[in-house]
Amino acid sequence: MEQYAVYGGNPLVGEVEIGGAKNAALPILAASLMTDETVLIENMPDVRDTNILLDAMQGIGAHVERVDRHSVKVNASRIHDLVVEGDSVKKIRASYYFLGSLLGKYKKATVVLPGGCDIGCRAIDQHIKGFKALGASVKIAHGMITAEADHLMGSHVYLDVVSVGATINIMMAAVLAEGRTTIENAAKEPHVVDLANFLNSMGANIKGAGTDVIRIRGVEKLHRTEYVIIPDQIEAGTFLFAAAVTKGDITVRNVIPKHLESISAKLSEIGCEVHESDDAVRVACSHSLHHTQVKTLPYPGFPTDMQPQIAVALGLSHGTSIVTESIFENRFRYVEELIRMGASIKVEGNTAIIDGVPRYTGASISAPDLRAGAALVIAALAAEGFSVVDDIRYIERGYEDFHIKLKHLGAQIEKVESERELQKFRLKIS
Ligand code: EPZ
Repeated sequence: MEQYAVYGGNPLVGEVEIGGAKNAALPILAASLMTDETVLIENMPDVRDTNILLDAMQGIGAHVERVDRHSVKVNASRIHDLVVEGDSVKKIRASYYFLGSLLGKYKKATVVLPGGCDIGCRAIDQHIKGFKALGASVKIAHGMITAEADHLMGSHVYLDVVSVGATINIMMAAVLAEGRTTIENAAKEPHVVDLANFLNSMGANIKGAGTDVIRIRGVEKLHRTEYVIIPDQIEAGTFLFAAAVTKGDITVRNVIPKHLESISAKLSEIGCEVHESDDAVRVACSHSLHHTQVKTLPYPGFPTDMQPQIAVALGLSHGTSIVTESIFENRFRYVEELIRMGASIKVEGNTAIIDGVPRYTGASISAPDLRAGAALVIAALAAEGFSVVDDIRYIERGYEDFHIKLKHLGAQIEKVESERELQKFRLKIS
């Protein structure tokens, strides 16, 4: 089993290039199936979730050509199967994007019910409500969900909760429906906007993405395009918090600073220096951190995907901080692991009360999910002594070359596969 061996205590210093946004890449891949012409997608992150989706696309007949590590051509003119299933697809949340894209184009799709990180109940009622509003029937049986329609008709959909996935799925299905669709209370995340831009570059007519009302006028078909995915705001934010936690100085390059505003604001608030330029953000942090309060919210609020990373920083901050998780009910599973490293945190419902401690100490810990896993690695990099992080497959779902990028910033971290490799790392460090 692969693990990260970490020896903490070094401030991380340097520059890091941020890759394409995983959560934009996933719906863009699904949407690339909506034309029979060839689509070129660039700045594709090479992470487990995108690779699983690409394999699933090939499985139903799409032709996928990897131009280089971060560029892929997709041609979906020979799709022969509208059923997407299999163990790997089942494990990722984004498999449900095939419902919107295949329903839009072929008026039928069956997809294995989605899994994903175990961070809460993750309902899909709003997706179903949207598909039904467009005229589809939706059935769930034997662990599969099927949506089908003779004809999709534009409609008015009001989302009861702001949902990234439902906004995206309804948008994809509506693009090729007849007439106009309005999605109200839509999600405004940068990846929702990126998908809308991608679809518009294929000939769709979507207006208002990035606001809470998205208007779509259905078109007859979509065509070829060449598209560059936006940078990953969560990968960038994770490295910025690594600077804060290790008292380092990190510049993230190839980012859109606007997308990082809520993250940069909290970093300043806790006492870091933040410098922004056109496509880079630098965070330097040499003093002790201050406590604060933070509540996760849909964009442009503080992202739930950054909640564990900020909690790790607040665990080392002076005073008592409060972190409120308002999106997913099960996103504090890392707290137990952090306590093993010396943190003083109490969780009550959706709130974590954090009393800052002067330092963490290395321990054997497990990544409970993707973002929490990355946050624990950062904690280990700040901690005194050795740590071993298990279950790093979660981290690899969404961070490309995570340990390699950290190493370039001066981290003492190695991916190990056996006890022997672990001992070798320990000997090298001591
Ligand atoms: C996306 O998940 C992301 N995943 C998540 O990132 C991210 O945490 C989340 O959006 C919020 O920003 C992908 O993009 C693949 P939601 P998604 O639908 O779409 C409730 C990561 O680490 N809800 O916006 O599943 C739901 O239970 C991952 O990269 C309903 O009630 O999130 C939650 O409380 C983890 N009914 C809230 O809405 C629905 O039909 C927001 O969920 C849909 C959602």
